[in-house]
Amino acid sequence: MNRPAQDREVLISAMRLEAEGVMALELRALGADSVPEWQAGAHIDVRLPSGTVRQYSLCGDPSDRRHLHIAVLREATGRGGSREIHEELRVGQMLAISTPRNAFALAPAAAYQFVAGGIGITPILPMILAAERAGVPWHLVYGGRSRASMAFLERLLPHVGDHVQILPADEFGLLDLDAIAARAAAGAETYSCGPGVLLDALTARFQAQELGQRLHLERFSAAPLPVAEGEGGELKVILARSGLEVDVPAKRSIMHALRDVGIEVPSSCEQGVCGMCETRVLDGVPDHRDMLLTDRERARNNVMMVCCSRAKTPTLLLDL
Ligand code: FES
Repeated sequence: MNRPAQDREVLISAMRLEAEGVMALELRALGADSVPEWQAGAHIDVRLPSGTVRQYSLCGDPSDRRHLHIAVLREATGRGGSREIHEELRVGQMLAISTPRNAFALAPAAAYQFVAGGIGITPILPMILAAERAGVPWHLVYGGRSRASMAFLERLLPHVGDHVQILPADEFGLLDLDAIAARAAAGAETYSCGPGVLLDALTARFQAQELGQRLHLERFSAAPLPVAEGEGGELKVILARSGLEVDVPAKRSIMHALRDVGIEVPSSCEQGVCGMCETRVLDGVPDHRDMLLTDRERARNNVMMVCCSRAKTPTLLLDL
């Protein structure tokens, strides 16, 4: 895990309504600059003019060193970031973006299966490019509410039949988990991004068939936030650099409890997705509730996301 590097400015060079409620943005490097290097599965933080920061998967071609591409679903019940992008951003404006980070990297494999739900197609598109370039066989199952709501169909339609299944729910119903699990059982490493309900169903099916190792997921945001004024016992954090002791109530995140006493930790998503609040743990055992750390990183218990994780011990000593 790395903390995000400094923001840099890019120009919005094109915007296009890619599907119902989905705005695609082309972001161009300034002057003669290149955009930062990235690999399939990466995302960037985008800092909007209002100051809101949101994470979006890169959906263009990593070999294009002048442009980055993202696509944003307008979320009626979201926290306002997607509304700002759809309604207020215009071509020619500048945006600040972070260095790309990748919590969903494509590992070498003999065959891939991609399962995308709705806007979850975005990180999958560069994965398809990577598979094509590596000459690795791949298959895409792409579900969505309706054909009109599914972005980037034009790009995918030429492959339908060979590699691609386009399966809007209003025509085909739910995705066929049996067929997806069967491809994984035959050796396809499976990468999926989509709504939580799809990812939860895939996880349950793959685990039931002991295929869990073949499943790689990226969620749009963390599963329901356990401490969003919800469960999680009281705990105490001790700040190693000052010796300050902070009581964290059951219904408050560590990050908010720290803020209450004037300690600011860098943050963006506050949902365990972006990694900005990663904090070193010097003593005590965190109860990891983020979506970023790998099982191996979790087992080390030496870092945690303080926006969402709790503690398995009454006290945590943090490097703050
Ligand atoms: Fe994004 Fe904590 S603020 S992971």
